[in-house]
Formats: sequence, C-alpha cells, structure tokens
Amino acid sequence: MTKRSQQEKWNHIYKNKGLDGDTPSNLPQPCSLLSQYHYLLPTHGSAIDIACGTGGNAIFLANRGLSTQAIDISDVAIEQLNDRNVPGLTANCQDVEKHPILTSTANSTNATPISQGKFDVIVVSCYLHRDLCHAMIEALAPGGLLFYQTFHQQKQSSNGPSNPKFLLKNNELLDLFDALDTLIFHQLSNQGDLSQGNRDLSSLIAQKPN
Ligand SMILES: C[S@@+](CC[C@H](N)C(=O)[O-])C[C@H]1O[C@@H](n2cnc3c(N)ncnc32)[C@H](O)[C@@H]1O
Repeated sequence: MTKRSQQEKWNHIYKNKGLDGDTPSNLPQPCSLLSQYHYLLPTHGSAIDIACGTGGNAIFLANRGLSTQAIDISDVAIEQLNDRNVPGLTANCQDVEKHPILTSTANSTNATPISQGKFDVIVVSCYLHRDLCHAMIEALAPGGLLFYQTFHQQKQSSNGPSNPKFLLKNNELLDLFDALDTLIFHQLSNQGDLSQGNRDLSSLIAQKPN
C-alpha cells in the first residue's frame, strides 16, 4: 500500500467515526498499558504519542500535566484531535516512516519538530514500524519511559492486522528495545484460562538508562 493510500485508508476510518457521536463512554481512551501503569508516569515533562489516531494516549498524557505532542499520518484524525483543544497537547499530521524521529533530520529544512533526547515519555499503541525503534530510543531523554503495546503473531482473536509485517514476533519488543531497561513486559497467547488476560497484545514499558 502506498503512503497516500495508507493516509486515505485511515482518513476514511476517522471520517466515519467523527466527533459528533462523542459520549462520555466513547471518548478516546488510552491503551490498557498506559491506563494500568499510569503511576509510573512522571508528574511533569514532555511526551509524544506516535501514530496517535484519535489521541486517547495523548489526551491522557496531557491531562496528567505532560507537555504532549501527538503525530499521525491521518490529517482527519489530527484535525479532530486539535478540535478538542486539550490544554498542553499539540497534534501534527506527519508520516513517521518518511520523516523518522532522527537527529540527522534536525538541521534540514524538512526537519521534524522532534529531536534527540527530548521526550520523557514515548507512547506507541497498535502501530508497528520496526525501522523507527532505534530513533525512538534516541528520542528518549535519559531516564525517559517508553510505553509500547501492539499486536503479536500468536494473537488469539481476529483483532488487528493479519500481515505478519505488522505483528510482533515472540519476545520481539524485548529485542527491539534491548538498549533500554525493561520494567514491564507482557505477552500472553494461549496459556491457562483464555477468558482472562489480553491475548492479542504484547506490551513493554522500558526506561532509558541515565
Ligand atoms: C490501529 S491505529 C492506532 C491508533 C492509536 N495509536 C490507538 O491505539 O488507538 C494505527 C494508526 O497509525 C497511523 N499510521 C499509519 N501509518 C503511519 C505513518 N506512516 N505515520 C504516522 N502514522 C501512521 C494511522 O493513521 C492510525 O491512526
């Protein structure tokens, strides 16, 4: 799929969702990893929600007092998020695969607003582009936290992508972020009582060494 059709695909999804149907129960919510381990977050600092979609993670981070950026390829999602006027939150339409979060772009005219060592918190949920992982490590401030949660290959439901390119392999988050100190890692598939626990998502919270 080309970048343009990728953007069109997500724009179509978000246009159909719209903001009109907002009720307290369908406001964008943070991913379960962030809501479950919210107590690990710093009380101040900077954060970014990468591939934010409707911005549940970003809104949550900004509401906790973090100066938060949100980026997504879908201009429709970004416009909807900006329309919410959440204090402390800035959302930008950006193709993170085209303009990765690398310092090498920092001095170019196409520079992203994202620079090395800037973020105290980086959150990614339900999105995988392996080539970005090194850049995310670089973009974390010393002591900064990464919250990463997305679908893995042993997932038990039909939720999420089917293309293995977008699915994590066994323990892959640990490998991708082995430069960070692991605080939390979850990866359940078909063990034990399948009526309990999230069987589809791999989750990692890791910290950049000081
Ligand atoms: C499954 S949604 C997840 C959205 C949000 N993180 C969440 O958990 O609800 C995947 C998101 O990735 C975004 N996306 C896909 N490719 C992207 C790219 N190259 N750059 C930035 N965002 C991208 C899509 O627009 C979409 O909002």
